[in-house]
Amino acid sequence: MSVIILGIESSCDDTSAAVIADGLLRSNVIAGQKVHEAYGGVVPELASRAHQQNIVPVVSEAIRQAGIDKKDISAIAYTRGPGLLGSLLVGTSFAKGLAIGLDIPLVDVNHLHAHVLSHFIKNEETDKVPEFPFLCLLISGGNSQIILVKSMEEMEILGKTIDDAAGEAFDKCAKVMGLPYPGGPHIDRYAAEGNPEAFTFSKPHIPDLDYSFSGLKTSFLYTIRDKVKENPDFIKENIADLCASLQKTIIDILLNKLQKAIKQTGVRHVAIGGGVSANSGVRKAVEELCRKMNVTPWIPQRSFTTDNAAMVAIAGYYKYLNKEFSDLALPPFARVTI
Ligand code: KG4
Repeated sequence: MSVIILGIESSCDDTSAAVIADGLLRSNVIAGQKVHEAYGGVVPELASRAHQQNIVPVVSEAIRQAGIDKKDISAIAYTRGPGLLGSLLVGTSFAKGLAIGLDIPLVDVNHLHAHVLSHFIKNEETDKVPEFPFLCLLISGGNSQIILVKSMEEMEILGKTIDDAAGEAFDKCAKVMGLPYPGGPHIDRYAAEGNPEAFTFSKPHIPDLDYSFSGLKTSFLYTIRDKVKENPDFIKENIADLCASLQKTIIDILLNKLQKAIKQTGVRHVAIGGGVSANSGVRKAVEELCRKMNVTPWIPQRSFTTDNAAMVAIAGYYKYLNKEFSDLALPPFARVTI
C-alpha cells in the first residue's frame, strides 16, 4: 500500500500544503500574504488571520492537484516550530482536527529540519540526493547556520549567527534604501546590474564558525546617511552599485565560514537552504566554492528555498517510516533549535 503524506506549513507568512506519495512529490501549493508589504515586515496577527483564510482552500487544492482522495492520506505532517506562535497554531490545530477526522497519525516536523531535508524532495525515483554526512548552510530571514547533517534525524549546528540573520541583513538594508519588504529579492535584481566593488562595508571578526550581520547593517546605514547628506539623490543614482556591493559583502561573510567548515569536517557534499539560498549571487558563489574545493554542491530549486509544505511532507515521510508519530496534546513551539 502507498504511503501518502499531507504536509502543512504555516510557520510565518506562507500558507502551504503538499502531498508526497511513496517519497515522490505530487503537489505543493503555496499562498503568500501580500498584506504585510504595506508594513515593511510580517505583522504576526495579520499573518495568523491570513492563514485562517487560506488553510482550507490551500489544503483542498494540494489534495486535488495530487489526484488523491482525503481517505488515501496515511498521515499528516505539520510544522510544529520554530515560527510565529499564532501562525503555527493555525497549522497545528488544522492538522490535529483533520487527523482526528480521518483517524490517521500526526507527525510533527521541525521547520529547520524540513529546510535541510528539502534536498530529499524527489519528482522522480531517479532524482539524486546528498550523501551523509553533508553540510547545509541554512540562510533565511530568521536563521544563518552551518549544520552538519549526519542522517535524516541527526543534525549538529557547527555555527550560527550571534545577532541578525543573513535575510535580516538583506531586508533591513533594503529598507534603508526605501525598497519594499522583503528586500532580498529586490537587492538580488539590482545587484545583477551593479559593480560589487563600488563600495566597501565592514565585515565581522567573529571566532569559530559563527556569524554576525548587525555590524554590516550599521556600516551600510552610516554610509548611506553620510552620502545622502552630500547628495539627496545618492541612493537613486547608485542603487545597483549599492545592492551589488552589499550582496557581495554578505556572500563573502557567508562563504568564509562555509569554506572553513568544509575544511574542518572534510565532508564531500555541501547544500544550501532557506529563503536567502534563492539569491543568484549566493547560488553562483557556492557552486564556485564547491568546484574549487572539489565537493558536490546541492542548490535547491527556487520554489523549495522559501517556506513550503513539500519540505515538511518529505521530513514527515521519513518520520512516518520510522513510526515517529506525535501526540495530539503537543503544543506548537515558537522557539526551538534543530
Ligand atoms: O526562509 P524564508 O522564506 O523565511 C523565513 O525566514 O521564515 O526566508 C525569507 C528571507 C527574507 O529575508 C528574504 O528577503 C530572503 O529570504 N530572500 C532573499 C531572496 N529571496 C528571498 N534574499 C536574497 N536574495 C533573494 N533572491
